[in-house]
Amino acid sequence: MKKTVNSIRKTKTSGQKIVMLTAYDYPTALILNQAEIDIILVGDTLGMVVLGYETTRDVTITDMIHHTSAVKRGNETCLIVSDLPYQSDKTSDLAVENAKQLVSTGADAVKIEGNKTEIIRAIINEGISVMGHVGLLPQTTETFRVRGRKEREANQILEDAISLERAGCFAVVLECIPNPVAERITESLSIPTIGIGAGASCDGQVLVIHDLIGLFDRFRPSFAKQFTNVKKEILRAVESYKFEVQQETFPDADHSYE
Ligand code: KIV
Repeated sequence: MKKTVNSIRKTKTSGQKIVMLTAYDYPTALILNQAEIDIILVGDTLGMVVLGYETTRDVTITDMIHHTSAVKRGNETCLIVSDLPYQSDKTSDLAVENAKQLVSTGADAVKIEGNKTEIIRAIINEGISVMGHVGLLPQTTETFRVRGRKEREANQILEDAISLERAGCFAVVLECIPNPVAERITESLSIPTIGIGAGASCDGQVLVIHDLIGLFDRFRPSFAKQFTNVKKEILRAVESYKFEVQQETFPDADHSYE
């Protein structure tokens, strides 16, 4: 059955953890569907792990539309959430226009970084669901460090999360914050929290798929567990292919026409 914003919201009380992963293309969406995860995030990490940009700030709404539509073609049951990229939510009008484009291309909801309640309300007023994102905010940060180690910063993150819930977000991502802070936020909200580098007490977890499968190793945060290493497998296959072509053992009779 297709996951909905409401079914995700209900997991807060069911006790079942939400499983979210990024995907940026059709074959990955097919795999995540087969694995029956809850949410596919077409994240703006797209810029770094797929498009080779230096930061997520270079990602455009055109990039997000292109990749959301590819994911949509491979999706049946997961909820698709697409990031509004840097500056695409500069004003409420622009954010609404861009959120509408993402939804018309296949997103079920959009995600916005930071405590932008006015913009979030404007999008929700148009009938589009919004996921919030607090803690480390890659679109605007200059330093990639854990947020909320000091009490003042932790309190600010909690306040931000509460105002996102009040603005109408159906869930909120907590990025790179200490476990106890994530636990406090999770207990204070009635919407689910989805953690990335935020410990086990969140209502769900999200990872960038390229980190999980070991496809991208230029930069990997310490919280990102690598469950396998497909880069090694791909490299092995490419080197075998190169060897066989050079040795003239490929293509053989089984892989050509008479
Ligand atoms: O863009 C992204 O992949 C994200 C996750 C890191 C949560 O926002």
